Formats: sequence, C-alpha cells, structure tokens
Amino acid sequence: MEQRALGRSGLASSAIGLGCMGMSDLYGPANEQDGIATIHAALEAGITLLDTGDFYGMGHNEMLIRDALRSAGGNKRDNVLLSVKFGALRDASGNWAGYDCRPAAVKNFLAYSLRRLGTDHLDIYRPSRLDPAVPIEETIGAIADQVKAGYVRHIGLSEVGVETIRRAHAVHPISDLQIEYSLLSRGIEKDILPTCRELGISVTAYGVLSRGLISGHWDPSRKLAPGDFRGFSPRFSSENLAHNLALIEVLRNIATEKQATPAQIAIAWVLAQGSDIVPLVGARRPERLAESLGALNVKLDAADLSRIEQAIPAGAAAGERYAPTLMAHLDSEKSHGS
Ligand SMILES: NC(=O)c1ccc[n+]([C@@H]2O[C@H](COP(=O)([O-])OP(=O)(O)OC[C@H]3O[C@@H](n4cnc5c(N)ncnc54)[C@H](OP(=O)(O)O)[C@@H]3O)[C@@H](O)[C@H]2O)c1
Repeated sequence: MEQRALGRSGLASSAIGLGCMGMSDLYGPANEQDGIATIHAALEAGITLLDTGDFYGMGHNEMLIRDALRSAGGNKRDNVLLSVKFGALRDASGNWAGYDCRPAAVKNFLAYSLRRLGTDHLDIYRPSRLDPAVPIEETIGAIADQVKAGYVRHIGLSEVGVETIRRAHAVHPISDLQIEYSLLSRGIEKDILPTCRELGISVTAYGVLSRGLISGHWDPSRKLAPGDFRGFSPRFSSENLAHNLALIEVLRNIATEKQATPAQIAIAWVLAQGSDIVPLVGARRPERLAESLGALNVKLDAADLSRIEQAIPAGAAAGERYAPTLMAHLDSEKSHGS
C-alpha cells in the first residue's frame, strides 16, 4: 500500500489508517469477533496505522487490539503503529467526566495503556482534547519525558487549534494532528491545515465518512441504540438529515461513472487533498474495510474535484459536527467554523 509520511522525523504510515473506536464504543453494539476480523483484514491489506483511545470502551478497545495483534500471529505488533489518545475521563456507566492532561495523569494513563495493549511502547501518543486547566506545554513536556524513557516514539495532537499546535510543537516535534476532515467538515482548510503544513505536521483525518452519513449506506429509518453518538449529532437530527443526505447525490453519480461507491469517492476526496493527510477509516466489519480500501483505486481528476466542490462547497452541511456541550471542548473550533 502507498505510504505517507507522518511529520518530518521519518515516520511513515499506510495511506489509509484504521480507526478502531466503533469496535468498542459510540456507534451502538459492536461484535468483538467482527472487530478482530477487521483488524486482521487490515493487517493483511497492508494497513500499518491503528488508532485507538484508552477511553474507547474504557480500555476495551485497547484489549481488543492486543488480542487481534496476538491472534494474527507472526509478531504483528512490530509492523504497526499504535496511535493512542488519552485524557478523557469516564465513570463506570460510561458517562463523560471531563479531561485530565496533567503530567502525573499522562504517566498513569500511559502505564495502563501499555499494559492493556501488551506492548512496551506506543508509536504515537496524544491528548484527546486540550485540558483547559493544564498548559499544553506541560502535557507535551510530560509525553516528551516518556519519549526519552523509551515508552513513546512520537507525539501527536487531537482537535486543537493553531495557537495550541504552535505551542506544542515548540516543546517537541509533533508527528500529526488528528482532526475531523471530510466533505462535510472543512473547517481545517482556513488556518489549521496551512499551519500544519508550515510546521511539517501531518493530518490523520477522522470522520471521513461523517460517521457513516456520507457513506451511501445511511438509512434514515435506522434505529439508534442508546449512547450512539449519532443520536446526539446535529447532522443526523431530524431537521438536518434530509439536507445532508441530499448533498451526497453527486458522490453517487461520480461513483456510478467510476464503478465505485459513494464511500469510496468520499475517502478518495480526502486522499486527494494532500499526501500529508492520512484518512482513518472507522470500519468495524471486514466488508466495510474492503470497501474503504477500494478508495485507493479511485482517481479523482480536476473535473471530478470541481464537480464535487460545486455540489458540496465548504460549509454546505446543516448542523455542527458535535452537539454544543462537546463543541465546547474543541480547541480547534475556537478560531474557525466547522
Ligand atoms: N480524535 C478524535 O477526536 C476522534 C473522534 C472520533 C473518531 N476518531 C478516530 O477516527 C476513527 C474514524 O472515525 P469515525 O469512525 O467516526 O469515522 P467514519 O469513518 O466517518 O465513520 C465510521 C462509520 O461509518 C459507517 N460506514 C459506512 N460505510 C462504511 C465504510 N465503507 N467504511 C467504514 N465505515 C463505514 C460505519 O457505521 P456502522 O458500522 O454503524 O454502519 C462506521 O462505524 C475512529 O475509529 C477513531 O479511531 C478520533
């Protein structure tokens, strides 16, 4: 598979990474065997970037990845980059309880992640959100200490804005910023992406299918399980859903012409935005992963990109990308719109 650089320190990832969140959390019930089979299929296909968070299923997602790597055989751990987010706090019912990115918390979260993942180092470690009570310099400094100690190889960021990116990068080189980027979420284009490019920081883009909304598979009559993120997402709300689903007609048309699927066109669009951007696909079944990987064979030319731009210009989506309480945690939204 095509490789893409993450930052300027020689780190490289497969052009598409696998986000494992939905295998444990946030998109309703998930089947563990499907998750493991999806990770195995990803390794088989040459995916080398696996993304998780210690809070996805309160540790479940990390243990699922550990089990998948072990059962794949052949010491697969050494062939992948494990990208882990920390900092989000939860209670035993799964409720969200703020963030903790103090240096002592960094050390503690890391120790537990290493144990759950069954590894002696993480390839990329990142705070999931800016902790407003802790200067970013302190959080990144604490991770940098763990780099020196050999427990972490590279430092990433997640959902932060330009000022935080610059302050963090001044403490230690940042490999990549993980942030939502898709046809419906173009907020990074104005300031954040240019800043990353200036500093040599790559982007690992999540939500490239807008959580399934622009996958071509979304069924408006689908009943969502309690706790499914999409049940709280303004873009899936009854007043916005029809507008947002109508936007993807152009993807269907181009997909038909190219014998592809709308999901593949949406992922190919992100891939086409620059070789410094690695889409993280959130597949949780092997067939969805296979579909996503098909995006690598779709070439969008200038005419295709301009057709898509005309039909879905920046800001075309109805509704914000998170509910108001969650938007308030996004440092990345402080300086621009979604
Ligand atoms: N840093 C952050 O703040 C942050 C936030 C969110 C996610 N992430 C990371 O990014 C990863 C990807 O995010 P995401 O899952 O929200 O993004 P996504 O790829 O936009 O959405 C994934 C969902 O789309 C649906 N889907 C439909 N067709 C698909 C296909 N062909 N391939 C894959 N999925 C398809 C699936 O829902 P169904 O299975 O329900 O049909 C799947 O759960 C996560 O796993 C996580 O690692 C990071």
